Amino acid sequence: MSAWTKLAVAAPRIGRAERVVLPTSSIPDNYDRLDVIRDLRKAVEEELNRMPLRDGWQILDFGCGSGYFSSHFHQRRCDVLGLDIDSRLIQKARILYPFITFEIGDAASLSSGSYDLVFINMVICNMGRHHYVAEAFRHFWRCLKPEGMLFMTSIDLCNEIVSNANVIHSLVGEYYEGAPMMVQLRENDGTYTQPWRNYIWTKDQIERFLSAARFAVLQSEYLNSADPYYYCLAEKRRR
Ligand SMILES: C[S@@+](CC[C@H](N)C(=O)[O-])C[C@H]1O[C@@H](n2cnc3c(N)ncnc32)[C@H](O)[C@@H]1O
Repeated sequence: MSAWTKLAVAAPRIGRAERVVLPTSSIPDNYDRLDVIRDLRKAVEEELNRMPLRDGWQILDFGCGSGYFSSHFHQRRCDVLGLDIDSRLIQKARILYPFITFEIGDAASLSSGSYDLVFINMVICNMGRHHYVAEAFRHFWRCLKPEGMLFMTSIDLCNEIVSNANVIHSLVGEYYEGAPMMVQLRENDGTYTQPWRNYIWTKDQIERFLSAARFAVLQSEYLNSADPYYYCLAEKRRR
């Protein structure tokens, strides 16, 4: 089996005071057309289809990109807002799905107590360093209605999983959690995309972020995939 994800440049042992200069942080232009992304989306949809969503649920698709999952929720009769920090992707989403509301923004722009479900697919690994992610989870808590739910996915790189997966892991020994690293996705022709910046959080660390932000973690599992993708389902706890 060939690897789909390539860690082009890990960022080993970066001291706090050092500046890190990385070439790009945007997702590849052909992201939606990559077979590896189609496969991942299929695995996520398998999980989502197990979730009993109610008609009219207010759903936030955070980091919606070009709106693929916003469309999934719309088809399931939910009232969805797609939010993304990248205006180029929001423009694309509006063209693809003109009947769905898409806005440019990040977690700080969310209004409080508004959503039944916050959905976050492969976004946390693009957001940034520890303090920024921790703050984002507090905003997710704030924007949910009482007992609202959060469903998120990300990719792990813990050693025992990686040894069974399709990830090229020769650099894992140099890596530390939450450090920026450059990742390339496998193109359909077997070459690799341009590198883009990711911050890899293990499933355990994501559970810690969720608990610290006053979520109760209900499920936390690896997806049905050769690579170590996982999802977490959590519920907003009362104060
Ligand atoms: C790998 S893409 C996933 C897109 C989409 N969730 C999907 O599954 O197709 C990550 C997305 O997260 C967005 N993103 C990254 N940081 C963000 C932030 N702080 N606020 C909102 N969106 C963000 C990026 O612009 C990008 O569209």
